[in-house]
Amino acid sequence: MDTLAPAATRIPYRLFTDPGIYRREQEKIFSGPFWNFVALAAELPKPGDFKATFLGDTPIVVTRDRAGELHAFVNRCAHRGALVCREMRGNRMAYQCVYHQWTYDPAGNLVGVPFRKGINGKGGYDATFDPAEHGLPSLAVAEYRGLIFACADPSVESLLEYLGEVMTPWIDRLFGKEIVVLGYTRQEVGANWKLYAENVRDPYHASLLHLFHTTFGIYRSSMGGGILQDARGRHSFLRSFKIGEALETKDYKDAGLRTYQQGCKLNDDAILAARDEFAIPATNAIQQIFPNLLIAQIQNTMMVRQIVPKGPGTYELIFTYFGYADDDDDLRQKRTLQSNFVGPAGYISLEDGYATELIQQALASGNDGASYIELGGTGTGSDDNLVSEGMLRAFWTYYRSVMDLDDAF
Ligand code: FES
Ligand SMILES: [Fe+2]
Repeated sequence: MDTLAPAATRIPYRLFTDPGIYRREQEKIFSGPFWNFVALAAELPKPGDFKATFLGDTPIVVTRDRAGELHAFVNRCAHRGALVCREMRGNRMAYQCVYHQWTYDPAGNLVGVPFRKGINGKGGYDATFDPAEHGLPSLAVAEYRGLIFACADPSVESLLEYLGEVMTPWIDRLFGKEIVVLGYTRQEVGANWKLYAENVRDPYHASLLHLFHTTFGIYRSSMGGGILQDARGRHSFLRSFKIGEALETKDYKDAGLRTYQQGCKLNDDAILAARDEFAIPATNAIQQIFPNLLIAQIQNTMMVRQIVPKGPGTYELIFTYFGYADDDDDLRQKRTLQSNFVGPAGYISLEDGYATELIQQALASGNDGASYIELGGTGTGSDDNLVSEGMLRAFWTYYRSVMDLDDAF
């Protein structure tokens, strides 16, 4: 490994396999001063609604109390550590652990302990037992435009500052009116979570790995568009838009690239019938919010994707699809149909999980090398084209600054 290589362009493969690195990420990133996406407000609209999810690999619950306030707490009983909430979503004002029935309110305060004073004056807890000392660890919670984030470190900056002024207009573009959740997909992938963080910042692969993208004009590197980075390089945004079939396909035809399948047709091409609905058009508008969120609009299908690390060699992806409350039937149908682009078996997304697994599998037998990330130069800034790995370099530069790694990495 060339330790003198620029930090952003040579990524030691051990960063994807080392258990010590994984533990450090849980501490520095997922428990550090960073806002992690955990839910959409539309998933828990009413008092008493809750959603079980994860902060890094720690199980948590996001709740809405009687007054409509949001809370989040660690889903690990203060008695002997069992999961308190065993459902993914629902509505309740009390969370009771099934093991010995300790009970918590929506803020995670301990409100019930069976046999606390014993039976017939015998057993039970000591008189000094104070329920206030045995609540569930609570997390900071903040909301922007119906996106809910949690953070374990109360010193974190405000969510608005964290997202920053380069990123918020693109969130506003999709979340400017009332949304409705249309459904979910979840998938477990046998690779390190950072390989997916790379994948969603990687426009290079998008039109080379994905035959469907290129052949049917959903995404081509030759489209109009570009990439944007926030001031600290931790969040990024990619937009592509159509400039005309002939211009877009010329370079693929000339180079004989396998992903452009001339003459390939769908028997039923309803899935390709997209409708323009945004003032700023995009076939793909893909936003990466460090560390675990992707917000994506692909034609008329829209989703958030939460990346959940599950150990050095596994991550889970949770896709939450949404539309707008005022969708007409045609648009709603288009969103549902086009959701087949993505998810575990999606015409496009299936290949992303597989590509990250291909890397993880290759690393298992020997991982002294490093990846090479110099497409589009060595810079990390915004750019006006899609033939660049600049967003990956920005991610790694920021990741390294957060992780405070020694020279070996
Ligand atoms: S582990 Fe939850 S009540 Fe005992
Ligand atoms: Fe992809």
